[in-house]
Formats: sequence, structure tokens, C-alpha cells
Amino acid sequence: MDEINFFPDDLEIKDLKIILRLDLNVPIKNKVITDDTRLTLCLPFINKLIEKKAKVIIISHLGRPKGINIPELSLIPIYKYLKDVLKTNVYFFRGAFDNETDKKFSHLKGGEVILIENIRFFKEETEDDHNFSKKLGSLGDIYINDAFSCSHRKQASVHNITKFVKKSYAGPLLKKEITAINLVIKNKKEPVTCIIGGSKISTKINVLTNLIKKVNNLIIVGAMANNFFVYKKFKVGKSLIEENTKEIIKDIYKEAESNNCEILIPEDCMVGTDFDGIGKNKSLDDILDNEIILDIGSNTIENIQKKINESNTVLWNGPAGYFENENFSRGTLSIAENISKNTIERSLISVLGGGDTLAAVNKSNNKLSFSHLSTAGGAFLEYLEGKDLPGISVLK
Ligand code: 3PG
Repeated sequence: MDEINFFPDDLEIKDLKIILRLDLNVPIKNKVITDDTRLTLCLPFINKLIEKKAKVIIISHLGRPKGINIPELSLIPIYKYLKDVLKTNVYFFRGAFDNETDKKFSHLKGGEVILIENIRFFKEETEDDHNFSKKLGSLGDIYINDAFSCSHRKQASVHNITKFVKKSYAGPLLKKEITAINLVIKNKKEPVTCIIGGSKISTKINVLTNLIKKVNNLIIVGAMANNFFVYKKFKVGKSLIEENTKEIIKDIYKEAESNNCEILIPEDCMVGTDFDGIGKNKSLDDILDNEIILDIGSNTIENIQKKINESNTVLWNGPAGYFENENFSRGTLSIAENISKNTIERSLISVLGGGDTLAAVNKSNNKLSFSHLSTAGGAFLEYLEGKDLPGISVLK
């Protein structure tokens, strides 16, 4: 981590053109931003650059337009938001990138901001195109990547652009994200417990295999756990399962044994006959053919709470059940509340990540507190896998 070039606080940047890659990929419905978490997190650093009188050129994507200009994926609502909250002139650029583009930016004064339209409207962005990256790079003197959540993408504004600017840095949000994840997998305070949920084991297999080598306890929840039940020959009724996971699970147990990592799976669960219905607590050997497992049960909640109480570091990714229906949200919320309680009362190091996990946490009626909440989805998981993220490698 030491090798990453972090943006130095004392760097003189007055009147320098700074290309700032942010992740402003926020949910927008009918041109209205429905959750501005990612935006509010970016504001302190933008304000700092404004105060230091840098010329700030912001690049972001929104959704996956695949090189097509889709009006619903325009950054205009975000431009309006920034214009409202930033106390400076904010401009919007929606032209093409050619040799004249930097001239179009020449009106920008120190302390002003220009937001570029959704960079994925250009297919060259996702292709990590050399010439396109060169044009982007020519817009600024310095490049800062403060978008950890996009850093697993080998795309022009995250990756190849760094070849065409004098200096590239990682911004403070990116630093905060990797510092927090490193607290779990590198600079950890043991015992470390990871709670991994969600629906598909095949998408998280590499994460699980890497975590097994680094943590003391691995707790499997969510629909992913159903595959473990099948492996242990329990009947799971109509629950979501994945084909061909027997070998994967066998390997997981083998790896866990040789690395001294304890694997915990639920011992009871909440079942329903449909997703919108009510739930019933059942032990694993009691599930009927027409039932669906939709949450962890009370004994499991207690077991998980005990593990959290005994841990000094907890990482959590993926809900424990179908929390969208409150009849099946107790498992997820109790995990969230217990992690928060331990964070507040005895300084448990707690790192949470993934869109679903954050959405679930937001459902709690209590004010919860964690050491770090990552807004990243795919990048969070890939970093946990131990992968070198392309957008971070180029900042070293
Ligand atoms: C995210 O929401 O995880 C990031 O913005 C990355 O988006 P992507 O998966 O479309 O690259």
C-alpha cells in the first residue's frame, strides 16, 4: 500500500488543471437523484481543490450506456446538484474529445469546476482506448483517481489515462477504502470474522478462498448458505440453489481446515411459501418441499452475535436474507445492529461493503455506526480476493 502515490495535502496546485475521476454513479429516477451518498462523500475533496484554487475537471460514468448517448444516463442531474452545493462556478461539458477540446476548457479559472458528461457515452472509454486516453490526459496537468469503486475496471479514465499525464495520484476516498479493507486482510486485529451473504456462491468463490487464508471465522449466510445445506444433505424445498457447487464447497472446507479457519453456516432458518408472505422459524431438517429459505433463524442469530462479540475485526458483505420483506429482515438487521453496538462499545473494527448490505443497513430504525462503510461493490470484492486492481496498479 505504501507504494501507491497518494495525493499529498501540501502540494501546490493553484491554477493547475486537475482531472478528478470520481464515481458519481448514483441512482437517478425521472431525473431525480434518489440516493446521494456517493456524492456527499466526494464533496469534501472537491471543496478542498476549489479552496486551493485548482481548476477541477471531473470525470465520471453513470450506468452502463455501452458507448451510446442515452438521455436517462446523462450526468445533468448531477451537474445541477454540484451547481447547488459547490460555492463556485460549475460548468458542464458534453462535446466530443478532439485536439481542440482543451481550448474549450481554457475559460476555467482557478477554483472553478467543470463536469464532463457521462464518459461511458464514448465506447473508447470501456475499451481503454489509447488515443481516447491520450485526449483525456491532455486536458489536465495532474490526474487524481478518487473512485475506488471503479478501480477494478480497465477503462480509459481509470487506467490508460495515467500514461498521458505528468503525475497521477490516489485521492483521499480511495485511500480510506483500501486502508479499511487492509485492516481486515493485512494489518488485522484478530480474531477476524467475515460474514459473507448474498445469493451466488460462484461469484464469491475467489473471495471466500482468499479470506479463508486470512481470517479466523467465516460465516456464510444468505441464499449462498443453501448450497452448503444441500452439500450436508438437508432438503431445502424451493429455495434458491446453484448447480454444481459440491466440488466448490468441498474445496472450501478443505482449505478452511488447512488454514485453521472456522466455517459457520446457519443451523436454523426462517422459511416462507412465497417471497411476500410471512415467515416460520425452522430447523434445517424440517423444511418442506413447498418452502423457501428466506432468512437465518433465531439460534443462528444468537450464534453469529456470539462470534461478533468475541471478534476484534468484522467484515460483512451480503445480506442474511430477503430483507426487502420485513418478515425476513431480522437476520440482516440483527447482524447490522450487533456489529454497530460492538463498534460503539468496544471499538470493534467493522468494515461493511456492497450495495445490498448498505441498503439493508439503511433499513434499520436505529442510528448505526461502523468503522467503514464501503460504497464499492465489485471493486470491494476484487480487492478482498487479493487482486491487483488495474486502476490502483497504475497509481503505484
Ligand atoms: C459501481 O457502482 O460499483 C461502480 O460505479 C462501478 O460500476 P460498473 O460495475 O458499471 O463498472
